[in-house]
Amino acid sequence: MELTLQKHIFFLARVFHFSMMILPKKMRPLLFLISQMAIFALFFHLYGHNFNSLSTKEEPKPMHVLVLSSWRSGSSFVGQIFGQHPDVFYLMEPAWHIWMTFTHSTAWRLHMAVRDLIRAIFLCDMSVFDAYMKPSPRRQSSLFQWDKSRALCSPPACNIFSRDMIISQAHCKLLCSQEPFEVVEKACRSYSHVVLKEVRFFNLQVLYPLLRDPSLNLHIVHLVRDPRAVFRSREHTTGELMIDSRIVMGQHWEKVKEEDQPYYVMQVICQSQLEIYKAVQSLPKALRQRYMLVRYEDLVREPIAQTAQMYKYVGLKFLPHLQTWVYNITRGKGMGNHAFHTNARNALNVSQAWRWTLPYEKVSRLQKVCNDTMTSLGYHLVRSEQEQKNLSLDLLFTWTPSN
Ligand SMILES: *[C@@H]1O[C@H](CO)[C@@H](O)[C@H](O)[C@H]1NC(C)=O
Ligand SMILES: *[C@@H]1O[C@H](CO)[C@@H](O)[C@H](O)[C@H]1NC(C)=O
Ligand SMILES: *[C@@H]1O[C@H](CO)[C@@H](O)[C@H](O)[C@H]1NC(C)=O
Ligand SMILES: *[C@@H]1O[C@H](CO)[C@@H](O)[C@H](O)[C@H]1NC(C)=O
Repeated sequence: MELTLQKHIFFLARVFHFSMMILPKKMRPLLFLISQMAIFALFFHLYGHNFNSLSTKEEPKPMHVLVLSSWRSGSSFVGQIFGQHPDVFYLMEPAWHIWMTFTHSTAWRLHMAVRDLIRAIFLCDMSVFDAYMKPSPRRQSSLFQWDKSRALCSPPACNIFSRDMIISQAHCKLLCSQEPFEVVEKACRSYSHVVLKEVRFFNLQVLYPLLRDPSLNLHIVHLVRDPRAVFRSREHTTGELMIDSRIVMGQHWEKVKEEDQPYYVMQVICQSQLEIYKAVQSLPKALRQRYMLVRYEDLVREPIAQTAQMYKYVGLKFLPHLQTWVYNITRGKGMGNHAFHTNARNALNVSQAWRWTLPYEKVSRLQKVCNDTMTSLGYHLVRSEQEQKNLSLDLLFTWTPSN
């Protein structure tokens, strides 16, 4: 390349020199200009070409997707929708490890640690877990809910299943749990998309540095759900969520009476979900395009259409076997032991279950606590027990979010 360049320049110089001698004087400045342009074009051609061939050799930059949600809001389901895609490396709630290391801390104190953990994982740096896991022998099965990640059940993490299969969690757990921890990083590096689901963010500000980070290509899928349905679902999992609830309440944990605690936790959650949604409206347009709001209820009403939108947003193809799978699991068909609570039941029916199981007094109290959030996200309040139980009354505003 170097030699050719020298030859070209030498040739150009000779042509130039020769032309200067034979051309009339007043044409010479023009010729000089043309020759300069020719040299510039030559350089551009050589180095521009060189530069292009370099960059096409490199992989395109991975896409980083954060499924941002709260507990019992269908985020495991959305996580699975991404995680089952053969181009996606998915981890479910990696920040669980931080919270379980600091069970007496508060959500706000742990915010930055959660943010930094997420960033490291997006860049496939799994050494970040050193701070939150016991040392060796560490296996990939040391990761919280590792078997819900199809990527950890297929090559290069585990060579038993193929990447483009829908892999059952039980089979994966049985056959892939002995792989060493190092396969997690190796697997991560082999995908074009890294998707993380987190319920441990309580505002958007903490994520601004990640949205602006040039080494990341962060896109946020913000999943929300009717707080009344969340409340009902939390009541059924109070035990499981106890440590988390305590961290969410922070310093207020001791002050709030036990019977008021579920409402206090919901208040914190509702406020933070609304803050995230509102913060997006004040972002510059370029950053607003990195955010997509999904309501769980819209997803269960139109699973195929909504999934298609989410995939499109992050640049994934909606492959035929995934279309059948999404259809099946939202209708309770197909493989039995799936990772989410919509399994084997009609997802649409489940999403409305609070209407006949939750006493109106609770609904009314919750509506007071989450009033602003529900109004902003398009959930109608009910004003009586009659309205609550009347299923022909649709409580969902049909809308298109403003961004
Ligand atoms: C969908 O359900 C049908 C009928 O139960 C089943 O035969 C098929 O294997 C399922 N497909 C997927 C991808 O889950
Ligand atoms: C929804 O669930 C309720 C309670 O479990 C049941 O009574 C009702 O028949 C179900 N409806 C449908 C359409 O599945
Ligand atoms: C919700 O807020 C609106 C306006 O702020 C108010 O008019 C309404 O009474 C509130 N509803 C409940 C149930 O608190
Ligand atoms: C239920 O709601 C529908 C639609 O608003 C209304 O027409 C109907 O009268 C209501 N039924 C009862 C029992 O309140």
